[in-house]
Amino acid sequence: MSKPIPIAVVGSGYVGLVAAVCFAEMGHQVICVDNDERKVAALQAGDTLIHEQYLPELLGRYRNDRVRFTTDLGEATRASDAIFIAVGTPQSEAGDADLSYVEAVACEIARSLTTYKVIVEKSTVPVYTNEWISRALERNGVDRTLFDVVSNPEFLREGTAVGDFLHPDRIVVGADSERAAKVLSDIYAPLTSGDYYEREGIIPGMCSTSEPPPLLLTSTKSAEIIKHASNAFLALKISFINAVSNLCEATNANVEQVARGMGLDSRIGPKFLRPGIGYGGSCFPKDVAAFRAVADQLGIDFSLLTEVEKINSLQKKRFVSKVRSALWNLRGKKLGVLGLAFKGDTDDIRESPAIDIVRLLLAEGCSIAAFDPAATERTQQVLPTDNKLRYATDAYDAAGDADALLILTDWQEFADLDLRRINQALRYPIIIDGRNLYDPSAMSDQGFTYLSVGRPVVHPVRDLASSAV
Ligand code: UGA
Repeated sequence: MSKPIPIAVVGSGYVGLVAAVCFAEMGHQVICVDNDERKVAALQAGDTLIHEQYLPELLGRYRNDRVRFTTDLGEATRASDAIFIAVGTPQSEAGDADLSYVEAVACEIARSLTTYKVIVEKSTVPVYTNEWISRALERNGVDRTLFDVVSNPEFLREGTAVGDFLHPDRIVVGADSERAAKVLSDIYAPLTSGDYYEREGIIPGMCSTSEPPPLLLTSTKSAEIIKHASNAFLALKISFINAVSNLCEATNANVEQVARGMGLDSRIGPKFLRPGIGYGGSCFPKDVAAFRAVADQLGIDFSLLTEVEKINSLQKKRFVSKVRSALWNLRGKKLGVLGLAFKGDTDDIRESPAIDIVRLLLAEGCSIAAFDPAATERTQQVLPTDNKLRYATDAYDAAGDADALLILTDWQEFADLDLRRINQALRYPIIIDGRNLYDPSAMSDQGFTYLSVGRPVVHPVRDLASSAV
């Protein structure tokens, strides 16, 4: 059993909160800091704030014990060997990452730093951020021997964040000093040694004692680039398959077959080749833009990333055209919408392509009944109910008397609908699926006109001749 290490995590968003409870689960003593008093009070009282599998369980186990929540960064700094910075790095007007929160945290840490600490960048930051953090600490009077700045990017996905953190494909540690590298190796030892996976009641996942995750030690700059390059590459993969899906639609081919044929090549791999309505969320759009901005600032032509963004933005407009192609005119049409979150298993609507599409359809004069299993409340804050938009109680309510039903988020429950009930609820049996959740021929058998992404349109078996599409 490895030695518990006192750790501070600054920021209680997706990355910070999940890292805090997972470090506790690994056996460490954690103080999670946030400057938002209401958030801290809510976390102390047991509110998880975000919809994430296993988070309530881990918070229940460690809250106010192995994980303490506070607004006092000074106290947390003094009490910890390593301070993980996991605050937001939003997109600035110019497209690059706004690092003012990171800088503010670095300056505040400087005030309480009197013994050696490792400062860890956990937020997604551009290359050279470690140097800026060092400079900020030194400018605020901290002796250079009292700290090292390390990059330890996080690769967790929302919806599966806890499992991803404790069962990672790899742990990347960018450290330019052996002393700092050792602190990070010790922190992750429960995972890399495989000890964690021997324990009872652990969070399940892919790693095991015989196959623990590898820890890759790199320079700080390489680690910073690994994070941006990984997200940009995944976004590129999605835009690539979306462009291929458009080609499939134009030729009546089937993108699912194409993606399978490509993915079986082990050099390509099957993951992140699901076509849809474009990627969204708080990471890919922001990180592709930030990586492009870094390249621009360094005088490197990386216009490939501009194309990735262009395809992504067009994909949403193509979906609206698809709805038009099925319904002729959009003005005055009544649509049921399933899904508002940027992907399934989360209540996060940041940069959600589903919300963008809802906005576009409202602007075209449609009226919408929308349903999402978790994201409705958040959506209501940005798109309040009005005479063109209402929030349905379930999928069947959303379908009620609609001219067509649209699937915009890949929630499992939308793949398990009672299709007979949906068919009865709709005014016309038309489903336009932006996530390819159903098999087209089965939908045709069930009496639907079914449009999806990169696959041929199908019509009800019984009703082929009279179909409007
Ligand atoms: C992403 C990365 O996958 C994580 O590794 C990374 O840590 C995280 O960003 C981050 O930087 O914090 P996340 O944004 O939670 O994670 O979501 P993903 O599961 O990657 O999905 C992103 C978007 O791509 C979603 O809108 C999703 O629907 C879409 N997507 C994903 C597709 O359209 N097709 C696919 O094949 C996969």
